Amino acid sequence: MTADHFPILDATEGGRVVEIAEETSGTFLPGYAPTFSAPFAEWIDRQRDIVDSAIRRVLVGAVAAKKSRGEWSAVEAIAGRILAIDPLNEEATLASAQAMALHGGKVQALAMLDRYLKEIGPDAREIRLPASVLRRRIADAQHIDRSHPVTDPPFTGRAEEVSELLHALELALGGQGSACVFWGEPGMGKTRLAHEFTRVAQFERVQIVRIGAQSNDERRPLSAFVDVVPKLLNLPGAIGCSPDSMQYLRRLIEHNTKDTMPTPDTREAAFLYASIRRSVFDLIDAVASEKCLILIFEDVHWLDAASWEIISEAIPWLATRRALLVMTSRVPDAERKKGITELPSLHRRHLRPLGDTASRKLLDGLLQLRGGAVREDLAEWCAATGGGNPYYLSELALHGLREGGSGSHGYRLPASLATLISERISLLRPISLRVLQACAVLGKNSMLERLETVLQQRRIDLLDAFEELENHGLIISDGARVQSKHDLLSQAALARLTGLSLRLLHHHAALVLEDDVDRPQSVAALWECAEHWLQAGEVGRALRFLRSCAHQAVEIGLPTEAAELLEKAVELTGTTKERIEVLGELVSALRIGGQWHRLLAVLDDVLQLHFSENSQCQNIHDDNELLVLEASYRTSQDPMQIFIRLKACVASSSASSEHRVRAALWATMLGDNLALAADTHEVYDQIGPYLEMAGLEALGHQVKIIYHTVFGDYDVAECSARASVLLARQSKNPEMVVRSLFHSSVAFRMLGFSSDAIIHGTEAYEIAEKQHLGTAACSVANTMAWTYLLRDELVRANEWVDRANHWLPLLQDPSAIYNVLATRAHLAFSRGDYADASWLQEKARQVMGKRMPARSEAHFLSLGIQLKLASTGEAPSSIEVQQLLNLHYQTRILPDHDTIIVGLYASLDAVGQPEKGSMLIADYVSRYRRERSPLTSALKRIMKSNVFNSAISLEDAQWRKNPATTLKSADETNS
Ligand SMILES: Nc1ncnc2c1ncn2[C@@H]1O[C@H](COP(=O)(O)OP(=O)(O)OP(=O)(O)O)[C@@H](O)[C@H]1O
Ligand SMILES: [Mg+2]
Repeated sequence: MTADHFPILDATEGGRVVEIAEETSGTFLPGYAPTFSAPFAEWIDRQRDIVDSAIRRVLVGAVAAKKSRGEWSAVEAIAGRILAIDPLNEEATLASAQAMALHGGKVQALAMLDRYLKEIGPDAREIRLPASVLRRRIADAQHIDRSHPVTDPPFTGRAEEVSELLHALELALGGQGSACVFWGEPGMGKTRLAHEFTRVAQFERVQIVRIGAQSNDERRPLSAFVDVVPKLLNLPGAIGCSPDSMQYLRRLIEHNTKDTMPTPDTREAAFLYASIRRSVFDLIDAVASEKCLILIFEDVHWLDAASWEIISEAIPWLATRRALLVMTSRVPDAERKKGITELPSLHRRHLRPLGDTASRKLLDGLLQLRGGAVREDLAEWCAATGGGNPYYLSELALHGLREGGSGSHGYRLPASLATLISERISLLRPISLRVLQACAVLGKNSMLERLETVLQQRRIDLLDAFEELENHGLIISDGARVQSKHDLLSQAALARLTGLSLRLLHHHAALVLEDDVDRPQSVAALWECAEHWLQAGEVGRALRFLRSCAHQAVEIGLPTEAAELLEKAVELTGTTKERIEVLGELVSALRIGGQWHRLLAVLDDVLQLHFSENSQCQNIHDDNELLVLEASYRTSQDPMQIFIRLKACVASSSASSEHRVRAALWATMLGDNLALAADTHEVYDQIGPYLEMAGLEALGHQVKIIYHTVFGDYDVAECSARASVLLARQSKNPEMVVRSLFHSSVAFRMLGFSSDAIIHGTEAYEIAEKQHLGTAACSVANTMAWTYLLRDELVRANEWVDRANHWLPLLQDPSAIYNVLATRAHLAFSRGDYADASWLQEKARQVMGKRMPARSEAHFLSLGIQLKLASTGEAPSSIEVQQLLNLHYQTRILPDHDTIIVGLYASLDAVGQPEKGSMLIADYVSRYRRERSPLTSALKRIMKSNVFNSAISLEDAQWRKNPATTLKSADETNS
């Protein structure tokens, strides 16, 4: 025997509960109360209990299933049926209250929960908790009573997407965050989906932050984060962000129009930018650890490249956070256009057209909202022509209602969605159209009071206009902001403006936003102003804001973006003076960004402009000249030529003293690299009198330290090193302190003050690290590693090279990268890891390309030969030996030569000429080696194992005389 309630009794939770729930109506034998037999009545009651509780179980399961798909009408209906059987059922009460709240019945929802709480009484603490929590969330919720405009069709057909989102939220609540992007054509319902999801999500313990990109954001660096950070900072938990991060975040979102000079740390753009990025993560982390965070980024196809970079870094990071990132986009892979190719953990979902049933449901709902009864022919016509695009469907329905139908083919099909919208807009009263246009021009800055100012209309007229627009579902308001409901609408409204009136609107929008620029958190307004003035055709004002935007980009470590803006700004300049000023800013941005080739071209323009202004000044020695030389050096132009030009600067009596000393500093460094002893002496002789001039002492000390350590008098080098540190400490400029500590540390090593070298180097590193001066930190750490390597303290050396390596990914200067790779290769060789050493050598060679200063070339070749010998036993070719020999002659007067000559000895030994090697070593240690630091152990080993003809003892080998006196003769032998 079977009965219709059997499937109910058999239903399991995961099974066909929804289907069974839909098939089940009423309870067990409703109204049947037999009196003929007491046992039978008892049996019926028992059966009723069993069946009713099974029905309840099935219905509760169905409620959960419907909830997870966001089908709230069904939830409300099924919950109502449960409550009919069991008026105090907890699940049904909560679900019903949620559904009511989502359908705009916040008051009823709260009343229902209050009733329930009263019924269960004050004592049932644990049972009260879920209802009390829900009550509080509904009361606090912001979005639920601001549903989409009343003119919008009821939400339909996206159950799968909603359930995916709810599942992702569940995981995020448990600390497994993720990111997803919903993409699809305009009007397909991306925004609506995100909106419906957040409405439901509010019932959980979450905080929701939403931002939307617009078309001009593509040019605004970090636009998404400039917009989202102020919102995040207002959330509980933000206070947990470190003070250091707070500082960087303020820098990202605030802008002081009075600051025009770049802050010193902008020179370390990559590190600055990395700090900003890190701070954004720190903030998200702080907020999300308070409460699960839902970030909604809309229309990411309009995001700039820098924002995408952070997003791509954030996606895998979210996996262990209580945060969910939901993005919407019109294209499937918006990030690709911005140079990001791989985002494996981003979940992408194509929002396809609604199916027939959903389309029909949408239309029925919409037509009911509009006109009461559904017109069958109209609904069918729309469904057939709307292609499942919700926006198109609704516009078609409205169009059909307006037009009315005649006969069987009554409805005229408009050419496109754009035409449809345009037709709808044409029906607006002129003032309403103007309001819509003003909303469109102001974009996300379209606040009520701004609209009033821009339009200068009587309030009463504005009210009428708002009413008309709202009734037609053309605008949407979230409190202070009044926005055009859809981008397609904005475009259609703007298309109706003449060029002149569009400019006028932009003009007033810019004027209104200018007020914001002076307030904190004004970076976004700054960019908007620039954009509006450009659109308004007000070149002078646009230029002023573009320059401020560029300045701000430099301040957040994005000099390349700043340069792009300034290139645009140059085009807007009117006078030559203005042009020269903007080009100057461009030069600075290009220099910070390391765009040396472009920098050379721009400097050439600047020179031409100066010349056209004043034909006398073609050959002036100024900062630009030194920049040209720096750029030439960085773009691998012949260093000898650069040295010659620097020498001319030093010698020029028409140049300023500062220019000459700067040129001398450069020339000394280059002289060291190129082993140009005689020429460097000449430079030093000329510049000597200027090195102690007031204001030039710091530069002067640097020249003296380098010159005297490499070519001159060791005692002067030592004094200068100590004096330079003192002077720098007085300046309190961390960059200067780091530089002088670093140069002194290198000098001390060579002068034999090993512990001074280590103390100074360690301090330099600590300051550089704290101040995020990455390039300096990397160089210092690398030099420390080298110092320990020469002392055979390999553990320490490894620790320091790891520190240097940490900064490497953000380094731009190839020679700095080369130095770290070279140290690592030496270390790998020292520990016998030849494969690693070879790989590092190869990488180092790639970084430097063909051009290498003589000293680097000598180190490179010497290690290469030793590596080959040690790993394969293969002797070097005669060409290689000769090459190394030549390099040895060229560089033996320079510091740090021990490792080179060890390689040279090994080469000569391998080709059967150990005596020649011994002789060269003897010569080196007795005549050319200028360092007071101890010989390296490798060199000592060779010397011990050889009988030297010249009978040089190890003690004698140390260069104890003041080398300055004998240097010239050494130099002569060298040449
Ligand atoms: N599933 C849906 N059910 C009912 N109405 C919907 C649905 N999806 C979208 N709509 C309605 O269609 C219109 C357009 O939707 P929406 O703004 O979400 O599109 P979009 O995909 O975000 O477009 P765009 O790419 O231009 O931003 C809105 O009025 C919205 O309420
Ligand atoms: Mg949208």
